[in-house]
Amino acid sequence: MTHETGTLQPDEVRGMFDRIAPVYDAMNRVMTAGLDGRWRKLAVEQAVWPGDRVLDACCGTGDLAVQAERRGGKVVGLDFSEPMLQRARKKSGAIEWVQGDAMAMPFSDAEFDVVTVGFGVRNLEDLGSGLVELARVLRPGGKIAVLEITRPRGILQPFFRLWFDGLVPLAGKVLPGGRAYTYLPASVRRFPGPEDLSALMEGAGFREVRYRLLGGGSVALHTAVKP
Ligand SMILES: C[S@@+](CC[C@H](N)C(=O)[O-])C[C@H]1O[C@@H](n2cnc3c(N)ncnc32)[C@H](O)[C@@H]1O
Repeated sequence: MTHETGTLQPDEVRGMFDRIAPVYDAMNRVMTAGLDGRWRKLAVEQAVWPGDRVLDACCGTGDLAVQAERRGGKVVGLDFSEPMLQRARKKSGAIEWVQGDAMAMPFSDAEFDVVTVGFGVRNLEDLGSGLVELARVLRPGGKIAVLEITRPRGILQPFFRLWFDGLVPLAGKVLPGGRAYTYLPASVRRFPGPEDLSALMEGAGFREVRYRLLGGGSVALHTAVKP
């Protein structure tokens, strides 16, 4: 295992999120200057309609699932880290919170109208197979929205590097589970860019794959439909 190359075994990823659960929400707010809430809202606006059955996979502490519920969805949140889910449960009693592995989910084929994933696909052991599993639980005509950190090109690149590769891991050093914040930039570095992720989504069977860049190009919101 190595945090520095951003490649960890699933048990190590889970252990890492178990440890950072107490500071996860606060770190999100600080790292994104409070913008993450706006990105989550945008993601659900692109995909969720009132009454939709929504799965938020890799739901963590539940912020994206809660946005989907506010939009009128009937929401299930799934994550493999119990400490992250404990925090999610406090945010909504109306959402069904399920502990499970996104690579092999305890749901039937075509069970959901919408699948959302916020900053989660980057952690999956095998991204291609993970996307196929997400497609499996979506009904034909259903929609997926994926938010993920990406590396901006152009003018913002040096600022992003200073912030993300320098200050974020440094902040992590003073927090419990701090090694996670060494893993974070490394995992983003090895993660496919938006074009490649679009191609992987096509390969997993999704169509009408589109993405838009947010946060000065540091976050990509991909949407697609299961044919
Ligand atoms: C960066 S957090 C994102 C949490 C939340 N979606 C958000 O928007 O803040 C990634 C989450 O994915 C979960 N995760 C990673 N791999 C997983 C897997 N194979 N199955 C289930 N959950 C997983 C972790 O436990 C963690 O809570």
